[in-house]
Amino acid sequence: MPITLREATAEDRDPVIALWRAAGLTRPWNDPEADYRLALENPTSTVLVAEDGGDTLAGAVMVGFDGHRGWVYYLGVAPGRQQQGTGRSLMTAAEVWLQARDCPKIMFMVRTDNLPTRAFYAALGYEDQAVVTMGRRLDGR
Ligand SMILES: CC(C)(COP(=O)(O)OP(=O)(O)OC[C@H]1O[C@@H](n2cnc3c(N)ncnc32)[C@H](O)[C@@H]1OP(=O)(O)O)[C@@H](O)C(=O)NCCC(=O)NCCS
Repeated sequence: MPITLREATAEDRDPVIALWRAAGLTRPWNDPEADYRLALENPTSTVLVAEDGGDTLAGAVMVGFDGHRGWVYYLGVAPGRQQQGTGRSLMTAAEVWLQARDCPKIMFMVRTDNLPTRAFYAALGYEDQAVVTMGRRLDGR
């Protein structure tokens, strides 16, 4: 069955979070429910979902435009449905979503030691950037 891509709605929250958990994307210091709500509430971000006719979502990705760069988070494809082009389709959908907002560049963070995922992104034409990501929490966690 061909993949269908669409913007997520509030009703997709639990299936999307279940998928993120199954894909190993959740972290103890993140709150996926809050992350999902904020991504849909904020006018410059969204969650895109992939459906393949199955009972559960095939994949999902969060994307947002900060006015200068586009950022991607929480890209995940359901175990058992990986290696079938869904991740590529979701990244293309994220690129199209950003291009529609005149965003000039798409970026994301991958752990340095996550070599399989880096190989996936390299297959899509993404290149390593010579930068170090620095950050500090603002929510007291
Ligand atoms: C990373 C992930 C999103 C890839 O999605 P996917 O649907 O399995 O990938 P696709 O089938 O769309 O693959 C697209 C291309 O990447 C390549 N690729 C995918 N996984 C790869 C791997 N582990 N090693 C090397 N190449 C890989 C494919 O061969 C394909 O190349 P081709 O089109 O030239 O043949 C998926 O494996 C996943 O959800 N992983 C767990 C969560 C995760 O790590 N997310 C990223 C967080 S930064």
